[in-house]
Amino acid sequence: MIVVASVLAGAVGWTAAAGDVQQNWDKNCAMCHGKDGKGQTTIGRKLQIKDFTDPKAQASFTDDQAVKAIKEGITQDGQLKMKAFGDKLNDDEIKALIAYVRRIKP
Ligand code: HEC
Repeated sequence: MIVVASVLAGAVGWTAAAGDVQQNWDKNCAMCHGKDGKGQTTIGRKLQIKDFTDPKAQASFTDDQAVKAIKEGITQDGQLKMKAFGDKLNDDEIKALIAYVRRIKP
């Protein structure tokens, strides 16, 4: 019984940790960038969001720029394009999300 419980606890713990970044992406980013990162959402098309599966799009920003975009948002011509997540996500979550974005491949 004890063995079963600890195996289950281990499995749940692992799932939660691995699921966090996916959950954060789905909850905070997917409505614009799309679940697949292609930006083919209603908002994404309107804002002409980059296709993260395109290596050229990946090359167009550095990790530092990505941190800044997620923390402070993106404003263009005085218009808010991407909202800021600095008060919602901590540094580790932001780092994990950037790693997530970098893993999006064609
Ligand atoms: C309200 C829509 C919206 C949401 C929500 C959103 N983004 Fe963005 N994001 C944009 C737009 C618009 C751009 C700028 C256009 C582009 O570069 O594709 C952008 C650009 C980026 C960039 C590139 C930064 C750069 O300098 O080019 C990254 C990385 C990024 N977003 C990650 C995220 C992550 C991670 C989340 C979730 C925490 C998120 N975005 C949520 C709209 C959004």
